[in-house]
Amino acid sequence: MLELKNIYFKKDNKTILNSINLKFDNEKFYCITGPNGSGKSSLAKIIMGIEKPNSGKIYLNGEDITDKSIDERAKLGIGFAFQRPVCFKGITVYDLLRFATKKDLSRKDACEYLSKVGLCALEYLDREINKSLSGGELKRIEIATVIARNPNVAIFDEPEAGIDLWSFQNLNSVFKELEATYMGVTIVISHQEKILSLADEIILLDKGAIVSDDKKDEMISSIFNKKCCKKVNQ
Ligand SMILES: Nc1ncnc2c1ncn2[C@@H]1O[C@H](COP(=O)(O)OP(=O)(O)OP(=O)(O)O)[C@@H](O)[C@H]1O
Ligand SMILES: [Mg+2]
Repeated sequence: MLELKNIYFKKDNKTILNSINLKFDNEKFYCITGPNGSGKSSLAKIIMGIEKPNSGKIYLNGEDITDKSIDERAKLGIGFAFQRPVCFKGITVYDLLRFATKKDLSRKDACEYLSKVGLCALEYLDREINKSLSGGELKRIEIATVIARNPNVAIFDEPEAGIDLWSFQNLNSVFKELEATYMGVTIVISHQEKILSLADEIILLDKGAIVSDDKKDEMISSIFNKKCCKKVNQ
């Protein structure tokens, strides 16, 4: 279980997150959504330890991890797929998957992780994680790496970003499987109705605060109706 207590985060005198109180239970699938700039990625970075809150506490299975580094949190089982994945010069896709699983991963098993995210595995296994990979390919490799790591808390920041519409269906089935089988906490930041509809709970952020009183179905309909209205009025 992951718990955030009264998280407050500001940068350059701007409040980015305010009074964030959240509890994430194991075996549950959470979606965080909200407008651009509402603080979703910042919240994910605070959980991963990439950013430090100005005040508030973070607990993982009852242990206070607020002052722990990214490495320590990764060791405790927090895994994060970035909104914009990073490159690792000199490291191949196979290396990355092997590091993630921390065991002797056969090429066949590595291929399976890649196939899951819709990559024709053999073509990619020996590719270096560098700029020669397209944005969508990098994104899929990163999602595969988090799944391979099998963390206690898996966070995916906009997994749909940069993924073409044709492949999105395929990616959606990856999250459907996670939702049905994963024993840890899954947190997916997304704007996609299909992904939101998988959630046990949807957390709506707006201007750094939580606005999430509605039930899931009501929330999905209100979020997407609002979007439609905006489009019609524009
Ligand atoms: N290191 C930083 N320094 C200054 N401002 C920051 C920093 N990190 C985030 N912000 C600001 O905080 C706000 C929230 O950013 P964040 O990336 O968390 O939003 P988001 O909800 O993930 O948006 P998007 O949907 O566009 O990904 C934005 O206004 C952003 O410019
Ligand atoms: Mg973001």
